[in-house]
Parts: sequence; structure tokens; C-alpha cells
Amino acid sequence: MNATLRIAVLAAATAALAACGGQAVKPTPPANAGAGARPVSTASSANVVLASASGSLVSGKLTLRPMGDGVHLTGEIGGLTPNSTHAIHIHEKGDCSAADASSAGGHFNPAGQPHGQVDHGAHHAGDMDNLVADAQGVAKVDAHASGVTLGGGAPNDVAGRAVIVHASPDDYKSQPAGNAGARLACGVIKVGR
Ligand code: CU
Ligand code: ZN
Repeated sequence: MNATLRIAVLAAATAALAACGGQAVKPTPPANAGAGARPVSTASSANVVLASASGSLVSGKLTLRPMGDGVHLTGEIGGLTPNSTHAIHIHEKGDCSAADASSAGGHFNPAGQPHGQVDHGAHHAGDMDNLVADAQGVAKVDAHASGVTLGGGAPNDVAGRAVIVHASPDDYKSQPAGNAGARLACGVIKVGR
């Protein structure tokens, strides 16, 4: 490698490091531009740190990744009643500041659909299947939200919104939120960290 080339390679490596080290750069969404274009996820993953709400002891950590027709959530949630079943949804506002997490708003619903069950007809984009806690009160999360993207800023982008765990199971039919009860934990979907 000659000296000039070596300097060029070094400069490129330095620029790449600088790009990774700073604040996450908001990607421009050219893939989503234009009427009728199908929105695509621009982020490969995101994290959620679930903190307790409504005086619960429930907390957890989730990872989100684009998968198939939407976004897949994996992780663990603890502090639940042993062998209990709980609703989990994506809510529209990434704001967990209220003690009862009411600040996160309603279910994420950019398409104006009724509440329902994912993969069973009409449903909110933020609707997902119930969690089940084991005998230790820990739920291993393996949930899917369909019709959503991760990053890119399209109307169905879940980045920056909130995940909420509820006190009761979702009955997948009561409007507007499946009769799922109090909000036990809340966390914001954060891309790029
Ligand atoms: Cu909810
Ligand atoms: Zn819903």
C-alpha cells in the first residue's frame, strides 16, 4: 500500500468511526417517498426498557427487529403475578411520564382500524398477542406486530412510540383496547443504541 492510499484508507476509517460514535443520524426516507410506495423499515433493531407504572413491580427489556410483514419483539418481562396473562401493545405516544402511563395515549392505529387480534382480521397496528408469565412471574416475550415498520418515518413507523404491559389479558374484541386494565409497565421504542 503506498502512502497516499494509506492516508485515504485511514481517513475513511476515521469518518466511519465518527459516524458511529455520535448521536444516531435520522435516516432520510427515500424508500417511503411517493404515493403508493410500500413503507420499509430503515432500522435493523431497536430497544425498549420497560419501567414500572401504576405502582407495579413490573419491568423488562425488549428488542425489536423488522420481520416479515411487521416488527418482532423478543425479551423478558419480570415482576408479574406467577402464571398470569397480560396484554401487551404498542401505544401511539412515546411518553411514559405519567404515573399510570396514560401519557402514552391509545393503541398505535395509523390505519384507523378497530381493536382486534393480530393476524385475525382488522386490528390496530399496535395490537399483539397476550403474554403469559411463568411460575416465577417472568414472561419470555415472542410477540409480533403486523403492518408496521421500524425507522424511516412512515405513518406506520413504531420508532419513538411506547410499549405497554397491562394488568389484564386482552380479550381481542372490546373497544377500544381489549379491556386490558391498568398499565403496569411502559417503555419507549428507541432505535440506534
Ligand atoms: Cu395497551
Ligand atoms: Zn388495539
